[in-house]
Amino acid sequence: MLKKKDLQFVPVHHLVLWKRANGEHGRTSNVSREYSFSVSKPTDPSLHTAFPSFFFHRLSFTFMETAIRIEGASRSSKFQDGLALYSRLEPCLYPSLNPALVLGHDISHHCPSLMYGELSGETLVKALGLIDELEALPREGEGSLIDIGSGIGKQIFTAACVYAWKRCIGVEIYEKRAKLAEQALQRWKSKQSSIPMLRTRVVDFACDDIVEIEMEGFQVILLVSAAFTDTLMRSIAKVLDSQAVGTLAICITKALPGPKWEVVHKSEREEPWGRAWLIIQKKILA
Ligand SMILES: C[S@@+](CC[C@H](N)C(=O)[O-])C[C@H]1O[C@@H](n2cnc3c(N)ncnc32)[C@H](O)[C@@H]1O
Repeated sequence: MLKKKDLQFVPVHHLVLWKRANGEHGRTSNVSREYSFSVSKPTDPSLHTAFPSFFFHRLSFTFMETAIRIEGASRSSKFQDGLALYSRLEPCLYPSLNPALVLGHDISHHCPSLMYGELSGETLVKALGLIDELEALPREGEGSLIDIGSGIGKQIFTAACVYAWKRCIGVEIYEKRAKLAEQALQRWKSKQSSIPMLRTRVVDFACDDIVEIEMEGFQVILLVSAAFTDTLMRSIAKVLDSQAVGTLAICITKALPGPKWEVVHKSEREEPWGRAWLIIQKKILA
């Protein structure tokens, strides 16, 4: 754990960086939850000249705002170790990928909903951090997550690495992608016992049309829905009618339609394919 004494103020124009004793530094927005500080005057007298007290008061105020933001950042940073673990695992899960097979040019011409695009792990982690801030993340080992349109399964494995779920389930309509997810799952299972950090009990995939299946209860639903047609979104909303009030949906660019799903967060993100909206919705009506 980083101690307060390991931190010192380093003024750079009006921007303040935290500097670790080992010389490493970063902007406050990158601060991990290990960093902590209180608003106090720097002990180094040379900094008192650099910061006249009236300026320091303003600075303190800025720090208080930053502290609030850091508290928020710490919620998503608690998933960072899992994200790093997933990055290390990914090459083992997908040792040789044929991009043409994954992209499925043969089918995505027919329907935009079948278009392939991966969400970044950072955005998934950001979304889970926001859900945690809303106090809506299920207790460890008790909640289930589903990725509707799970592609080759990357978000499911990421989710399983970053948090302890009871179940992480992916449903994918396109057979060739579902098969790649299944192959990755076999490799995952062979690793599971040797990596104690993998705390999610069940990871599974189904090759199916989400509109055709009977949904059990999930606490968190992921929809990388940017290319989904409005018709598909309406059908998905209908399928999700069975979900309990309080269920959270992470949607990318296209939100679930209807009055049952309230938008509780919306922000812009940079995804591998371009700009996208991260939308978090909460089911408010049965
Ligand atoms: C944009 S990709 C996202 C893949 C994955 N979630 C990720 O982020 O890595 C969307 C996926 O949804 C799938 N899909 C589209 N319609 C579907 C449906 N009705 N049922 C299940 N999957 C569907 C597509 O085939 C595609 O692989």
